[in-house]
Amino acid sequence: MTRADVVIRPEQRGDHAEIAALLTAAFDGPAEADLVMRLRDDNDIALALLAVANGGEIVGHIACPRLQLVQAERRIPVVGVAPLAVAPARQRSGIGGALMAASLERLRQQGEALVFVLGDPAYYTRFGLSLAVAEPFASDYAGPHFMALALRPDAPASGRLVYPRAFSDLG
Ligand SMILES: CC(C)(COP(=O)(O)OP(=O)(O)OC[C@H]1O[C@@H](n2cnc3c(N)ncnc32)[C@H](O)[C@@H]1OP(=O)(O)O)[C@@H](O)C(=O)NCCC(=O)NCCS
Repeated sequence: MTRADVVIRPEQRGDHAEIAALLTAAFDGPAEADLVMRLRDDNDIALALLAVANGGEIVGHIACPRLQLVQAERRIPVVGVAPLAVAPARQRSGIGGALMAASLERLRQQGEALVFVLGDPAYYTRFGLSLAVAEPFASDYAGPHFMALALRPDAPASGRLVYPRAFSDLG
């Protein structure tokens, strides 16, 4: 399957069970499916998109949780990417890349300032995410896998990131 064979669209209420099954298969356990469920319940998702194959099955999912950037007295809304998943049988055919590209485009359109990702730099730097941009931000996830991308020229360059409470339950 190539990128041309999937349609990217926002997730809808009726998709939730199929998304949970996809996340459980892609991550080999329920932690990420539970995370997405908690984020939804808490209304902490800024954007969630699906990749749907020709036959109608969901083959990829990306969730962008709402994060807060704290700077002195200010709290500025920013976003993360967590999790990104592609059905095991469909990996390495461009679906993850298509979901990333579509998300970044929509986040820009929404007027988001900054996006943060914890992941493999070999994968995420190809979408413009950068270790250097993330470096000045204080985060529980700071380190060699923590990347950021400014989506607006006036995006803040430092601050402390606060994650939604669903992340506190992750092991
Ligand atoms: C990571 C993931 C989302 C990538 O999606 P994908 O559709 O398989 O990736 P794409 O087809 O867009 O890109 C493929 C390229 O990305 C790279 N790549 C894929 N998975 C990678 C990984 N886990 N680490 C580093 N690079 C990876 C490879 O270079 C690959 O190119 P190649 O096939 O020429 O070697 C998918 O493999 C997945 O769901 N994995 C399990 C869940 C996971 O680990 N999610 C990410 C953390 S939130």
